[in-house]
Amino acid sequence: MQDHDTCFSNKGEAYDLSQDVPLNPSSSPTLGDLISRRYGRRDVLRGMLATTAISTLLGPHTLGAGTSAAATGAHFHFDEIAHGVDDTHHVAPGYKAAVLIRWGDPVTADAPPFNPSNQTPEAQEKQFGYNNDFLAYLPLPLGADNSEHGLLFVNHEYTNEELMFPGLGPQDKKTNFAGMTQPLVDIEMSAHGASIIEVKKINGIWQVVSNSPHGRRISARTTLMRLSGPAAGHARLQTSADPSGTRVIGMLNNCAGGVTPWGTVLTCEENFHGYFMGTLAGHAEERNYKRYGVPDGWYAWGRFYDRFDISKEPNEANRFGWVVEIDPYDPTSLPVKRTALGRFKHEGATTIVNKDGRLVLYSGDDERFEYLYKYVSQGRVDRDNRANNAHILDQGTLFVAKFHDDGSLEWLPLVWGDGPLTEANDFRSQADVLIETRRAADLLGATPMDRPEDVEPHPLTHKVYVMLTNNSKRKPEQVNAANPRANNLFGHIIEITPTDSDHATPRARWEILVKCGDPRVAEVGARYHPATSANGWFASPDNCAIDHQGRLWIATDQGSEWPQSGTADGVWAMETEGPRRGLSTMFFRVPIGAELCGPLFTPDDKTLFVAVQHPAADGTTHYPGFERLSTYDDPATRWPDFQANMPPRPAVLAITKDDGGVIGS
Ligand code: FEO
Ligand code: CA
Ligand code: CA
Ligand code: CA
Repeated sequence: MQDHDTCFSNKGEAYDLSQDVPLNPSSSPTLGDLISRRYGRRDVLRGMLATTAISTLLGPHTLGAGTSAAATGAHFHFDEIAHGVDDTHHVAPGYKAAVLIRWGDPVTADAPPFNPSNQTPEAQEKQFGYNNDFLAYLPLPLGADNSEHGLLFVNHEYTNEELMFPGLGPQDKKTNFAGMTQPLVDIEMSAHGASIIEVKKINGIWQVVSNSPHGRRISARTTLMRLSGPAAGHARLQTSADPSGTRVIGMLNNCAGGVTPWGTVLTCEENFHGYFMGTLAGHAEERNYKRYGVPDGWYAWGRFYDRFDISKEPNEANRFGWVVEIDPYDPTSLPVKRTALGRFKHEGATTIVNKDGRLVLYSGDDERFEYLYKYVSQGRVDRDNRANNAHILDQGTLFVAKFHDDGSLEWLPLVWGDGPLTEANDFRSQADVLIETRRAADLLGATPMDRPEDVEPHPLTHKVYVMLTNNSKRKPEQVNAANPRANNLFGHIIEITPTDSDHATPRARWEILVKCGDPRVAEVGARYHPATSANGWFASPDNCAIDHQGRLWIATDQGSEWPQSGTADGVWAMETEGPRRGLSTMFFRVPIGAELCGPLFTPDDKTLFVAVQHPAADGTTHYPGFERLSTYDDPATRWPDFQANMPPRPAVLAITKDDGGVIGS
């Protein structure tokens, strides 16, 4: 393990994640100053406006100033595109979708040019990683609402070796990863994690600022992280490399995430089980690991690194499956795994400041029959001093959702000593409850859902949108009102209404907004607004965004199942209020084999950033005229470069309107 003390030597300007004592930078304007300057102190102290103001300043997922309740019924004004599948992307007429950054492009100032036929781990540590997923936009400077200059934070969820490396083809545990070498594994590890880039809109065109001091790569191979909260330091998190149980190298399978009101990013470890190999027969962690599917042997990493072989390092897998907080404004900050938020396959972690000032965070556990969670902080968000929020994500209560068929919802607290969460069930502390969040939630009787993906609280209406992507394993005898379809191939969206708009209360109501799939196929049982066009329906909702006018935009991920819908993934705009509630319209479509991740609006809604993940990868055996597995040498598309010597490359696009106006206006 590297000498982590050096990480403390240059703390940057604002929010120090590396230690428990918060910094108080007296030279910078406080968040309260910034809000007061724009809105006036008296107005800021009034609940809703305060929440809206702070969100406007610091959160891309929130409503902007001047938004009225009526605006949440705003319509979408664009001509929708058609369903279909081909080798490139499509956006509504009158818009352009320009490549901002691709796998291999420079992130740090000293990054070498991308050479796909001669990759090295060292180069990949400095270049944009693989499979871009979650996106966060943080305006520059901190506290501004600048829509033309900011930091873009990007997750790199996983790698596709068959598309990354020439001549290799697919590798798996059945063949003991015969083609994998340590340099290839190191490139994979370096291609995981996240990138932070500085971006600027110049003459209407977004560009990556080269040689920016903000450029940073976070990888699974080299980036030191700290564990904090109730499970940090626990014996079950200690390893031979880290007897303290508080330091870990890297993060795994970071899918979606969120942004805090104080301008840090929450990036979420999802399918961490796939990175481990080995066996644990008879070991104390056997039941725990079985509940998470550890090990699943997706990668060869354990052949070269003992920590990814649970036979050799049995506690390492307990150090993954967490939400990681990163301060993108400080390139030297130490990422922190916040254990109070629970250990599961987090899709994302979206936040809202509750009316009493506490932070509430929503997070789905994305696997079939898993649960929906929320976290309520003990302390209140400090709007005047960013550094005083250092413990908001360490001290609070995690809850899991129980959906009743009468439309009510209970949030059940995961608190050690309460109900079944005691020594009688082998929970000896809150650390045990958090390390085995799923087993604790099982004992409380939480409702198993159809794969909870993104969860977005609406900052004005306070309704909460839950994307349930699909669940082909649900049997007829397992349906309930909140998961009403057996063999749910196409997913649905639930809308939760917290009692009295209070996200901290244990009570809420819920209803289904739409059931997805093609409504013209009777047995699918889809349900949208009756006026939905032939292209307005979609399948497998995954990420979503609420723009600053309060409108909902939904991105899809059908995986290899897309032939069942017959159309590629993309972005659909959906009405949520008024007589057009449930009416959706198709705005964007990805190339063959890709999924669409991270839809993200700038504060002015004039740019929609999207992440096109794994182009050419999924379901290409069903692609008419191709009908085989894609590889580096023989891919179904060479998007976005379309050059014979360049493989397909995951890429982030910036979508803008040709007249420079608001997206969807
Ligand atoms: Fe990585 Fe839940 O999608
Ligand atoms: Ca994905
Ligand atoms: Ca996802
Ligand atoms: Ca997904």
